Amino acid sequence: MVKVIMHGCNGHMGQVITDLIVKDENAQIVAGIDMADCRDNGYPVFTDIKACQVEADVMIDFSSFKATDGVLDYCVERQLPLVLCTTGLTEEQLDKMKECSQKVAILKSANMSLGINTLLKLLQDAAKVLATAGFDMEIVEKHHRLKCDAPSGTALALADSLNEAMDNQYHYVYDRSQVHQQRDDKEIGISAVRGGTIVGDHDVIFAGPDEVITFSHRAYSKAVFGKGAVEAAKYLAGKPAGLYDMQDVIG
Ligand SMILES: NC(=O)c1ccc[n+]([C@@H]2O[C@H](COP(=O)([O-])OP(=O)(O)OC[C@H]3O[C@@H](n4cnc5c(N)ncnc54)[C@H](O)[C@@H]3O)[C@@H](O)[C@H]2O)c1
Repeated sequence: MVKVIMHGCNGHMGQVITDLIVKDENAQIVAGIDMADCRDNGYPVFTDIKACQVEADVMIDFSSFKATDGVLDYCVERQLPLVLCTTGLTEEQLDKMKECSQKVAILKSANMSLGINTLLKLLQDAAKVLATAGFDMEIVEKHHRLKCDAPSGTALALADSLNEAMDNQYHYVYDRSQVHQQRDDKEIGISAVRGGTIVGDHDVIFAGPDEVITFSHRAYSKAVFGKGAVEAAKYLAGKPAGLYDMQDVIG
């Protein structure tokens, strides 16, 4: 039984994880931490991270970058492996995370979905065959109308995966409205659509002469991120210090 401390337990993702772990016989949330203590979760909730001294095997964090420094210090001090899912970390925080990972196990991924992380691997094989054969690579991502950043971190991760497979020879084009010329052979176009309540759609298009292959991922609910985070927590519990990602979980 993996004992989890849920940081950000009263937010959207904290509640998704709470619901998932209640049904999971191999994991248990032993404590939650959140600046908002607004509901009964069936486990103790601490509004001050330092006050939480409950024994655990791993922490899952879905909160805010504003909390990240405190979360990192806490996990190093308590030697508690950390699944760090919060996005929007500053460069300084990313550096601090790398330093802390020399003292405790940290797993970080901008997208915890097992589907996207499998896609990142599959795309590398596809790119090696298709881009080498002259297929153009384009990414189209769609998200809900409230999302402020574009393109999504996941679209960039997909582009990086394609580019890495092609020895980083490609560059990214985000907006063609000012580019009055044909596309370059070595570009990856990334387009963003915003509207309604779309949770997260990503299409990776390989367009060649007379044929097109599209890899599509659709997230229908935030549960996909929660499931990945719970799998990551089970994987990370008991692991030695180091920086891990979802590719390690997928194996
Ligand atoms: N990696 C992924 O796959 C993935 C998926 C979804 C969301 N996220 C990220 O996870 C984070 C949380 O997402 P959400 O949708 O649950 O947000 P949310 O706003 O619904 O929940 C955040 C929770 O954290 C708490 N919190 C904020 N600052 C805190 C602090 N300083 N100390 C203690 N608690 C604090 C809030 O009270 C809230 O309950 C965001 O950064 C989001 O981008 C990552």
